[in-house]
Amino acid sequence: MPATHDARPIGVFDSGLGGLTAVRELFRVLPEESVLYFGDTARVPYGTKSKDTVTRFSLEIARFLVRQDIKCLLVACNTASSYALDTLSRRLDIPVVGVIEPAVRAAFAAGGGARGRGSARIGVIGTLATVGSESYPHAIHAIAPGAHVISRACPLFVPLIEEGWIGHPVLRAVAEEYLGDVRAAQLESLILGCTHYPLIAPLVAELMGPGVKLVDSGAEAARALATLLGERGQLAAGGPRHHFFLSDERLDFNRVARAFLGRELPPTTIVDQTDLPWFERSPDHAATGTAEPARGRAAAKEAP
Ligand code: DGL
Repeated sequence: MPATHDARPIGVFDSGLGGLTAVRELFRVLPEESVLYFGDTARVPYGTKSKDTVTRFSLEIARFLVRQDIKCLLVACNTASSYALDTLSRRLDIPVVGVIEPAVRAAFAAGGGARGRGSARIGVIGTLATVGSESYPHAIHAIAPGAHVISRACPLFVPLIEEGWIGHPVLRAVAEEYLGDVRAAQLESLILGCTHYPLIAPLVAELMGPGVKLVDSGAEAARALATLLGERGQLAAGGPRHHFFLSDERLDFNRVARAFLGRELPPTTIVDQTDLPWFERSPDHAATGTAEPARGRAAAKEAP
């Protein structure tokens, strides 16, 4: 008989605090659910790291959360979704939802079908890793091969947002520089392909102009997860109990996390490193997504 409810918590992780923008939406759409959030504050940023490393970190965190008996996992990080979602989905026996597909579906919906999917014009901004992985163009072209996609890495956005320089002229100058080509591309929608970016959505919206619909990847993923849990009969009923885990203490955690979450924080624990083995090398390491980069390195070595 199918389940009718499931009181176990939802696991959510991000490289740091950006994923709290997805948690904020989870709290809104699923007020009965308990959330266990893991922010990898010791190893942020992921956006400049390799696929191999981000996949390994993601697996370590996923295993930690699975040990806390989560019922599903929300990968609230575009970089981890770009690099590690396939591996996580293959390796875990709970549902895993990433941010890329829900954001792409919302971007097509935001175009309103005015031009039809085949000629949609979609922009993507994100970390170096997310843009370099081409996860968004692949997902967009899988739906509409003729769609026009323009991607732009914005690596300075994350440190400026974490610093709290949301209204600062430096952020505006950086955004004007980054968004120059993107603004000229006559887009219908722009995917905020980093869970930090919703905090600067008003500035991005102002620079892009009223004709461009912004897509919040974390919020879209939260809504997709809500739909999935409903379909599976796995929604919770009763009082939610949230808990946050961080892999390192950061001095300004409360200030920054409140800005992301928009409310007071649940109880927070700094994870004991023995619970989260660092630089873990399992015998099945090749199955963590490292096989391809390893082949790439070997090929590079052989080249003249
Ligand atoms: N929140 C991460 C993402 O969505 C970006 C931060 C980082 O570089 O780790 O990609």
